[in-house]
Amino acid sequence: MRIAIGSDHAGYEDPPPHYKPAITEHLQSRGYEIIDCGTNGPDSVDYPDYADKVCDAVLDGSADLGVLICGTGIGICMAANRHKGIRGAPVATEDMARLSRSHNNSNVCCLGKRILSLDECINLLDIWLDTPYSHHPRHQRRIEKMG
Ligand code: RB5
Repeated sequence: MRIAIGSDHAGYEDPPPHYKPAITEHLQSRGYEIIDCGTNGPDSVDYPDYADKVCDAVLDGSADLGVLICGTGIGICMAANRHKGIRGAPVATEDMARLSRSHNNSNVCCLGKRILSLDECINLLDIWLDTPYSHHPRHQRRIEKMG
């Protein structure tokens, strides 16, 4: 399973631990192959550019799922959801992690560095990754209506 990961500068915001490398390392320790879409340092960048890179990787099949990090998880999620076929979920609670997978079949998990501790991010991401899509017809119908 391949995961594309991207963040804006919030992924490298001091104080350490820096979320993007720490989350990358966690995913690798779980056996996922990582596609690093940047950014790779603390210089200020624009979150839509990194949302685009991750979404392109998911949509062209080079990644199975995507993970995005910005300050709140909101802006980068908005940018992700401009891509047809991307279902980006802003994940801030365990229910959001679980239900965005089982009901919405979300394919990009969006996390907020300034909202969540690193441990919370990792816990939410693990729940998100470990929750399968339900494939229930009512959920599938709703997803299909979104295109
Ligand atoms: C960047 O400072 C910040 O605006 C961004 O990371 C994010 O929180 C936007 O939604």
